[in-house]
Amino acid sequence: MTNITLSMGDITDQTVDAVVNAANSSLLGGGGVDGAIHRGGGPEILQECRTLRASRYEDGLPAGQAAATTAGRLPARWVVHTVGPVWSDSEDRSETLASCYRESLRVADELGARTVAFPAISTGVYRWPLEDAARIALSAVRDAKTTVVTEARFVLFGREAYDAFATAWDALREER
Ligand code: APR
Repeated sequence: MTNITLSMGDITDQTVDAVVNAANSSLLGGGGVDGAIHRGGGPEILQECRTLRASRYEDGLPAGQAAATTAGRLPARWVVHTVGPVWSDSEDRSETLASCYRESLRVADELGARTVAFPAISTGVYRWPLEDAARIALSAVRDAKTTVVTEARFVLFGREAYDAFATAWDALREER
């Protein structure tokens, strides 16, 4: 069972076994969390991302899937890269967003990671509304079956994101 915790801060400061990156399919970097992780972790991460692109993910990492690299100089052992869906008004992509969390936990389990830090995937450049993203994220992690991971720490970047997750978490617990 995974214990869920919420904290406010920068994901690159977290001392955990694995940090989850809100990447894009190219795996070659970007802004937001992705930019911060590559800046903080250094060039070794990009090097392993290039290796992933040259082998298993020649066409890029599809949305909803996850793949691991070293965490380089970050205070973590691994980065689990996952690709969130871009928010759409006309199509329900919630299952893909939930899959990012499930697949990241599955990869973390395979690595032997006990503690995993998650950002609020898709809520930045990909424009997913925070309240809805929080509900999907928290229920996906709550319902995921893990064998090794014991802590999933949501690291929210600022008060607005933290409050959205805290409210969604209260609502989910009241449902039970
Ligand atoms: N630590 C924790 N959270 C952060 C950090 C950080 N250092 N920096 C940004 N965030 C928050 C944002 O405020 C947002 O709530 O992470 C959430 C996700 O935002 P993005 O990083 O923009 O990720 P996403 O919406 O999934 O978009 C992915 O952005 O940078 C590109 O390469 C990336 O193309 C991909 C896209």
